[in-house]
Amino acid sequence: MTEQSPALDNLLTESRTFPPSEEFAAKANATEQFYADADSDREAFWAKQAERLHWDTKWTQVLDWSNAPFAKWFVGGKLNVAYNCVDRHVENGHGDQVAIHWVGEPGDTRDITYAELRREVCKAANALLSLGVGANDRVAIQLPMIPEAIVSMLACARIGALHSVVFGGFSPAALRSRVDDAEAKVVITSDGQYRRGKAVPMKANVDEALADADTVQKVVVVRRTGEDVPWTEGRDVWWHDLVDSQSDEHAPEAFDSEHPLFILYTSGTTGKPKGILHTSGGYLTQAAYTHHVVFDHKPGEDVYWCTADIGWVTGHSYIVYGPLANRATQVVYEGTPNTPHEGRHWEIIQNYKVTIYYTAPTLIRTFMKWGADIPASYDLSSLRVLGSVGEPINPEAWVWYREHIGGNRCPVVDTWWQTETGAIMISPLPGVTHAKPGSAQRPLPGISAKVVADDGTEVPKNGGGYLVLDKPWPSMLRGIWGDDERYRETYWSRFAEQGYYFAGDGAKYDADGDIWLLGRVDDVMNVSGHRISTTEVESALVSHPTVAEAAVVGATDPTTGQGIVAFVILREGATKDEADGTEIVKALRDHVAKEIGPIAKPRQIMVVPELPKTRSGKIMRRLLRDVAENREIGDVTTLADSSVMDLISKGMKSRS
Ligand code: WTA
Repeated sequence: MTEQSPALDNLLTESRTFPPSEEFAAKANATEQFYADADSDREAFWAKQAERLHWDTKWTQVLDWSNAPFAKWFVGGKLNVAYNCVDRHVENGHGDQVAIHWVGEPGDTRDITYAELRREVCKAANALLSLGVGANDRVAIQLPMIPEAIVSMLACARIGALHSVVFGGFSPAALRSRVDDAEAKVVITSDGQYRRGKAVPMKANVDEALADADTVQKVVVVRRTGEDVPWTEGRDVWWHDLVDSQSDEHAPEAFDSEHPLFILYTSGTTGKPKGILHTSGGYLTQAAYTHHVVFDHKPGEDVYWCTADIGWVTGHSYIVYGPLANRATQVVYEGTPNTPHEGRHWEIIQNYKVTIYYTAPTLIRTFMKWGADIPASYDLSSLRVLGSVGEPINPEAWVWYREHIGGNRCPVVDTWWQTETGAIMISPLPGVTHAKPGSAQRPLPGISAKVVADDGTEVPKNGGGYLVLDKPWPSMLRGIWGDDERYRETYWSRFAEQGYYFAGDGAKYDADGDIWLLGRVDDVMNVSGHRISTTEVESALVSHPTVAEAAVVGATDPTTGQGIVAFVILREGATKDEADGTEIVKALRDHVAKEIGPIAKPRQIMVVPELPKTRSGKIMRRLLRDVAENREIGDVTTLADSSVMDLISKGMKSRS
């Protein structure tokens, strides 16, 4: 286990509980009975959940785990994911219901009904077909949070093509490696995007990324900011030229339940991002089921808002697939939470009477910093459920969220899951669970998780260890794109004997057996809810000509959860020109932003003479974390040269 940070210490002494109100419980979508039903027959329980969807052909077997760890769910079933998210609601008489209240950062808005969404998705599907995209082809999407992003994803799903959405903040190099790995045939992007009140280019970055990318035949460009863009004749095509003239009818084809739906890249413990592969029937079943029970979503009544970006899995499962499968009316907001003012989210909640709000702890802590008087000046009385995702939420932030945003009446659901799990796995159920601030508490009905020791045995109450998932679940990843071996190795080798999925998170049970998540136990950092691997940042740093060696750690940060702290050894002669290294530090931060993206920019870079290493040459990150978190340096007896830490801490002090 990794050592615990101060924030986690206070998390472990938290003992407040918040029972559900009788009024909420009386109308809740979930009941305590769900747990018993799922326990008595898991597969029957999931079969019942799958019936929320429209299947063109019903499955013959719920789960085939004979080729573990490669699962098949709802074997033999056939469905069209886009039909399930759009058309069937129109056919059921809800065409006039708003699917998306879109809010642009500059203040422009668009309300899109399910009937309009169906037409848009059909046109985009026809457009992709006209470009020669077919089932199993890959389409990379790098777009801001505009309706076309959702339409593009659904258009791919409709024709059986896989989308690979790449977060808009990723660098050209990061986009390129994802396009190459997936061998994407088409890339969809926009001219630019609005960021903090400014139009910033997007297409220019995509062009830089795609120089000589030989798999890419077409680049489709949505006009958003209206600025001039570089243009490659024959390859590039405007969305409006291509899509607007297409027919708005398209007959959806039913695909196999295991037909691939998308690839989403995420950071692992090595420098190379993993293409997490998700398929259709099981994924959509669990995305829809969890959205229904965890948010207590009532179609036609609620106004739902998930603040994630579609570049992350939360955007996939809880903006696109789960909510749309459940006929949600949702807010989609393009911009940053403080543009043009720090009350933007509360203003949107007030205007659209949002009832369910799902966001990340890092943002909640930022709101706390901005002050409770800001939300207090808006009418937030429409809210009834609050959700949190992406990192452990500290009890203070949880309680603040419940009090200042939820008016002490809204249940808060702390949802634990991962890109790999596809949907929520551990979470309280509103109306059922007696909530504990800071704890994700219990695996959802139908899901099984355990906290185990090094040897794979379950730890007792009050014990800590590793979080594992000990039974397959419908929305589980089906592999890493093009790398079955890495899939087995990363997730299934740690507890191979027991056949457990290793999540990479530390966790503990409290006295009631509820689960508390304690952060990553591997070399993955969690910065503002974004997964970034230490190795990835280290490789970016050493790719700079002045850097000889680099070690990166995630240090506790009061706002972002963790902050990236890098220790670098410069090459001979590199510092000669700069007296205090400030210039080189700036150059290196910019370099990392260029290589990976601004989200990976180290908060701090220390130029050091040496790095602490064991005799076998392994960098002791534990000691560097002590330095980065201003703690007393831990045990140095295994260091090859124990004076190194003195050198490093002295250097730190003289700089601060
Ligand atoms: C962390 C995001 C504690 C965890 C959906 C996990 C959490 C990683 C929580 C996955 C939570 C996510 N409490 N930790 N409620 N939710 N995490 O793939 O370390 O971007 O392994 O998926 O985020 O991040 P990912």
